[in-house]
Amino acid sequence: MTDLRDIIAQIDLLEPVPPVAAQILALADDPNSSLTEISELIIHDPALTANLLKICNSAFFSLSRRIDSVRDAISLVGLDQIVELVLFNSLSSNFNKELVGYGLGERELWRHAVSSAHVAAMLADRFGASQTKHLIFTAALIKDIGKLILGRFVAFSYEQINILVHSKGQSFNDAEHAIIGMNHEELGALVAKRWNFSEKLIYVMRHHHLSDESARQDLETVLVYLADLICMMMGVCTGADGLSYRFYSDVLNQLSLNGNDLQGIIAEAGKNQQQVEVLLAL
Ligand SMILES: [Fe+2]
Repeated sequence: MTDLRDIIAQIDLLEPVPPVAAQILALADDPNSSLTEISELIIHDPALTANLLKICNSAFFSLSRRIDSVRDAISLVGLDQIVELVLFNSLSSNFNKELVGYGLGERELWRHAVSSAHVAAMLADRFGASQTKHLIFTAALIKDIGKLILGRFVAFSYEQINILVHSKGQSFNDAEHAIIGMNHEELGALVAKRWNFSEKLIYVMRHHHLSDESARQDLETVLVYLADLICMMMGVCTGADGLSYRFYSDVLNQLSLNGNDLQGIIAEAGKNQQQVEVLLAL
């Protein structure tokens, strides 16, 4: 088995999320915070401000007038979009490399992450979780970040993992844990902890494949799981492990979702995917 210290040591090689992103996220989900507090945080980070204004003035938003200030950006583009853009700006550089162990080319995990996050936000609105939408969006965006580190360890042990998945019927993450000693959910939660994300965000990342039965009672975790599943069903960069996770039909019952509803959600997500592709090309 791999020495887990070798794996954990690599967390420090990731480009850390700047504290300002975690602070903005906390404020965005705090009903007592004000837009002024959020814009104050952003303007104290000149690089972030410049990037935000550049994207807000791009063809993606097609606004009728030029945006020259963060305050303007928040009022015209909306807080949800600004939080999304702050997270994209802070995280995307980590996702540039190819992940051989997971059969994902350059940026494919990022495409899956961004798509999952958009589907998760859509589900949050639909299933009465608007208040924690930013947390759900962020969890869906970074849930697989452990793969960035674990990829080469998985590549090295792929045959053994594959035997457990295909001959013993184990899920991919159980097989990862059995062979490597850690799976991408566990490692992702450690990354989130190192970056000082909230306990709740760490929990959702740690359980996003719902292997632990108790997590199936947690709405935020269930919605992130479902968003991941929908992206897999849409074939958005599924990777080598994509079809080797469990499907828990009781989760659909819990949300009072039948097969037709699910198909409707997938169709809507498919339409939104075009917008995601434009965002990815910025
Ligand atoms: Fe995952």
